[in-house]
Amino acid sequence: MSQKIFIKTFGCQMNEYDSNRIYDTVKKIGFIKTDQYEDADCYILNTCHIRDKAKEKVYHEIGRLKKNLRFKIKPLVIVAGCVAQAENEEILKREPYIDLVIGPQAYHKINDTILNYKIRKRKQEETEFDVITKFEYLSKIKNQTKKISSFLTIQEGCDKFCNFCVVPYTRGPEYSRPFDQILEEAKQLVDSGSKEIILLGQNVNAYDFEGLRLSNLILELEKFSNLKRIRYMTSHPKDMTNDLIEVYKSSKKLMPLVHLPIQSGSDKVLKLMNRKHTVKTYLEIFSKLKKINPEIKFSSDFIVSYPGEDENDLNDTLKLIDEVKFINSFSFIFSPRPGTVASDLPIINKKKSLEKLEIIQQKLFNNQIKMNESLENKIINVLVENRMDNKSKLFGRSEYMTSVLFNGSDDLIGKIVKVRIQNCNRNTLFGEIVEQLNEKVA
Ligand code: SAM
Ligand code: SF4
Ligand code: F3S
Repeated sequence: MSQKIFIKTFGCQMNEYDSNRIYDTVKKIGFIKTDQYEDADCYILNTCHIRDKAKEKVYHEIGRLKKNLRFKIKPLVIVAGCVAQAENEEILKREPYIDLVIGPQAYHKINDTILNYKIRKRKQEETEFDVITKFEYLSKIKNQTKKISSFLTIQEGCDKFCNFCVVPYTRGPEYSRPFDQILEEAKQLVDSGSKEIILLGQNVNAYDFEGLRLSNLILELEKFSNLKRIRYMTSHPKDMTNDLIEVYKSSKKLMPLVHLPIQSGSDKVLKLMNRKHTVKTYLEIFSKLKKINPEIKFSSDFIVSYPGEDENDLNDTLKLIDEVKFINSFSFIFSPRPGTVASDLPIINKKKSLEKLEIIQQKLFNNQIKMNESLENKIINVLVENRMDNKSKLFGRSEYMTSVLFNGSDDLIGKIVKVRIQNCNRNTLFGEIVEQLNEKVA
């Protein structure tokens, strides 16, 4: 009889991609996915270590699981992801309810690790960086997300070592998957119904496989006739090379939203962060892209209250937000991460930091609202992804990734339709369908 597996995922899109690939992998040893953790024979927590008390959150989550399942047979409990990588065997020592620890570069070993545990009942941690074998293994297992918009990891790891960031330690050095392996996976996704592919990497535009870059990959994907939209994230300003910028001239499928984290609008802070780019180089990228297509918009990530940031630096960031008019952006208070250069720097007090965050977010939210309001009474292209959980409306996304809700029938799912926007809030556009743009291809 097949066994049930449940995965709870925290963190970035790469973790989401990983969780889906774990599901595809464990199917081979008889597991089926369940959305009810109470029914699971195997429970996996796919963790993120980027901010706050990530480690404590893991123990809290497992403590809650233990309490909720106290009258049931204990499932096999696995901690995966970036906290698993950072903490490895410490996790097993601290919480006996956890059976296995598997880091992000060892997912190809998950089936053997589970089967071994079932036989020997010996706790184990697998946190070696073995990224080449991982992708070779995963490429033999079909990617079966069956989603209209699918993630595809093309690159992992980071060599940039920003002083605040834990990623180079949890995901290891930069690695680019073989070009053909990626195209093969993209083909599988498109054959199984995906209309949009979001290429992923911690530094996705650092992709370099034997001289083939992200630009080459996008141009190849452009040729897949059943693929309608291409996106990529997260990119680093230093790797925003001219060949990638040039693709925006010819590509019809590359969406006009560029997610390019800057973190701060002050060169002083960027230097303190070891970001390896300046505000000027960032703005140069911005103006090159705007020249190619004035409709291109930028989104970004910001860190406020990085140690050493003063009022002038904050004002520089606000000025930059006014200039670039970022939409769909993220902002966070600096969170010291163990093992990073900035971990022991004197932090700015919480109240002040919250005030600063609010100021930045207010500006970002205003841009967002203005952008959404500017679309009222206009007709936009929407890729229809699914029906809302409450069954009422269809859900799709604009070219700028904004959620769009409207009435329509299920046969529109997977198609690009024209929607007239009637009203909006900060995160969502509401509209009515005007016209269907192209035929759905199964
Ligand atoms: N590689 C991307 C780049 O170059 O910006 C970022 C990837 S990181 C997974 C996503 C975002 O988390 C970063 O852009 C940054 O804003 C935020 N972040 C990373 N470390 C952080 C920290 N210690 N405190 C607060 N935010 C942090
Ligand atoms: Fe982290 Fe910096 Fe690498 Fe991005 S570029 S993953 S922020 S170290
Ligand atoms: Fe978190 Fe790891 Fe992604 S730390 S943001 S899950 S790379």
